[in-house]
Amino acid sequence: MQLIHSITEMQSYSSVWQQAGLKVAFVPTMGNLHAGHLDLVERAMQLADRVVVSIFVNPLQFNEDGDFEAYPRTLDDDMQKLGDYQVDAVFAPSENELYPQGRERITWVDIPELSAILEGSSRPGHFRGVATVVAKLFNCVQPQVAIFGEKDFQQLLVIQRMVADLNFPIEIIGMPTRREEDGLAMSSRNSRLSVEERKNAPVLYRALQMMRDNILAGEGDFAQLESQAMEQIAAEGMTPEYISVRSAKDLEVPQVSADLVIVAAARVGQTRLIDNILV
Ligand code: PAF
Repeated sequence: MQLIHSITEMQSYSSVWQQAGLKVAFVPTMGNLHAGHLDLVERAMQLADRVVVSIFVNPLQFNEDGDFEAYPRTLDDDMQKLGDYQVDAVFAPSENELYPQGRERITWVDIPELSAILEGSSRPGHFRGVATVVAKLFNCVQPQVAIFGEKDFQQLLVIQRMVADLNFPIEIIGMPTRREEDGLAMSSRNSRLSVEERKNAPVLYRALQMMRDNILAGEGDFAQLESQAMEQIAAEGMTPEYISVRSAKDLEVPQVSADLVIVAAARVGQTRLIDNILV
């Protein structure tokens, strides 16, 4: 497994592989890997001949400097975990390598509408930062297929839209969310929860399950279900931000009761958690 820091080196590995007719799969991450990330790596191994994982904590997608600084950087640990898998290269550029002009003078990739709702409205500029770095990483790694977790459901749709709009010849694959035994979606942010917060956090998923079960049983009053779920989450000491039934295709307010996703965000203490469930 190669550890690559330079863009030109990454590109030349990739072009050697392409010339040899090998298919390249890519798993972009910000490191601090957990079992959910490793599921993505396993899927990548099934789909392609060569697997690249990127590890880069992208400053452009954080809304608060403190959050960016506090994000765990665990490269040695991550390398060790990836050592158990058939990963050909870990691409870990420095900030200066990826953004040599600094954080201000950047050519942005901005996906309208989809980037502005839900997570985008709570975190202005977040998806512009994600789309910009992912576009750059795609150009560095030049994969035929890239794998993203469905936990960040809106991010997955943003990337799919970007790839379609900008004609990247890359297939985007979504992987189901990996959960702890009590239902909490795995996330690097979970390590920031206190014992008490960790105990309460699974209520987010329970509320989503409650809504899904009711919809499947024929309940059509989504607003009523949303406020019931908000109350359930608040009763466990979390502060719900939004919980909303949407179309799984584009996250618009649904016109029909088919192909739905329920998306949610809530704070517990200093930590903000997101989750979703397909109906
Ligand atoms: O999901 C993530 O870890 C990040 O948003 C991504 C896709 C690696 C871009 O920085």
